[in-house]
Amino acid sequence: MKIAILPGDGIGPEIIAQAVKVLNVLGESFELETAAVGGAGYAAHGHPLPEGTLALAKAADAVLFGAVGDYQYDTLERALRPEQAILGLRKQLGLFANLRPAILYPELANASTLKPEVVSGLDILIIRELTGDIYFGQPRGVRECPDGAFKGQREGFDTMRYAEGEIRRIAHVAFQAAQKRDKRLTSVDKANVLETFQFWRDIVTDVHKEYPDVALEHMYVDNAAMQLVRAPKKFDVLVTGNMFGDILSDQASMLTGSIGMLPSASLDANNKGLYEPSHGSAPDIAGKGIANPLATILSAAMMLRYSLNRAEQADRIENAVKAVLAQGLRTGDIYEAGTTKVGTEQMGDAVVKALL
Ligand code: NAI
Ligand code: MG
Repeated sequence: MKIAILPGDGIGPEIIAQAVKVLNVLGESFELETAAVGGAGYAAHGHPLPEGTLALAKAADAVLFGAVGDYQYDTLERALRPEQAILGLRKQLGLFANLRPAILYPELANASTLKPEVVSGLDILIIRELTGDIYFGQPRGVRECPDGAFKGQREGFDTMRYAEGEIRRIAHVAFQAAQKRDKRLTSVDKANVLETFQFWRDIVTDVHKEYPDVALEHMYVDNAAMQLVRAPKKFDVLVTGNMFGDILSDQASMLTGSIGMLPSASLDANNKGLYEPSHGSAPDIAGKGIANPLATILSAAMMLRYSLNRAEQADRIENAVKAVLAQGLRTGDIYEAGTTKVGTEQMGDAVVKALL
């Protein structure tokens, strides 16, 4: 099993180092190979996604990614900016399924802005389609309004579209993810208003026939937004399109308090994937040794579960993270009175110790 390790910029190298420590004590013979990406790629090879880095990512069974971006690169032309690396990797690797778990560990129940009883024990998974929807549909632009009350004025327009195969493949990912969890899937759409999402609903309903052990529920996106703050624990897995997923996954992530705790996965059709924390490179705290490495360590756990077929090792890591939280160890972003403040390295070491 070959794993591409792409640390990137800012806190990327610090947090990735902790995840690598964790992978190294599992007793598996993973081949880990590191390459430069983002600003670090530009600094070393003149491009945010250097050829060698892309080749490594393509050849690997999975990619563990830190974060990219730093103030010093903000003046570069768009094509050379660090953020192009992650967009390029998504495209080149055909990553279409973005999995974002929102888990609130009981020890962090006070970190959420919602009442502890509403979110304590929350464990849901949002799956966002990444390649289709109104974000990429053509035609789009600004034109002369062809009809109606505003005929002749300028109007902005985009095109919402989803191909059948595009919906089928994300539905399969969602049903299979639900099978590995509580076997309940909520498909979020706007079938009452949008043709694209009536079609989405019909296709998801058809794919459901292949997964009779999973309970499928359809929900309109406005209701889903409401239920996510009213009673989020009622959900297990949610699947939705690119735009609704963009919004709902950010909303759900904030149920859990800190972005330093949130892993993510982006998968292709063969469960190859790129795994990264949901946060960015946090240049404001880079080099200080205080970043929370748990989102990255939990991303490594997702990698073991979804791409490397090592669910038991994923469980071990997740349990080790729970154990260090139960010990009262906290990085600054999740610190509260009565707990023990630790740095990035100490947190990584504590997870390693809990695994041994
Ligand atoms: P950010 O997520 O890097 O930081 C937002 C805030 O959260 C900051 O105050 C930061 O210190 C804090 N934070 C983030 N991760 C943390 C952690 N592990 N532990 C403790 N605190 C943490 O988002 P921001 O500031 O909007 O962007 C900074 C840079 O990151 C930009 O260059 C941006 O383009 C890039 N970025 C990269 C992403 C990626 O690589 N996929 C995703 C989002 C942003
Ligand atoms: Mg977003």
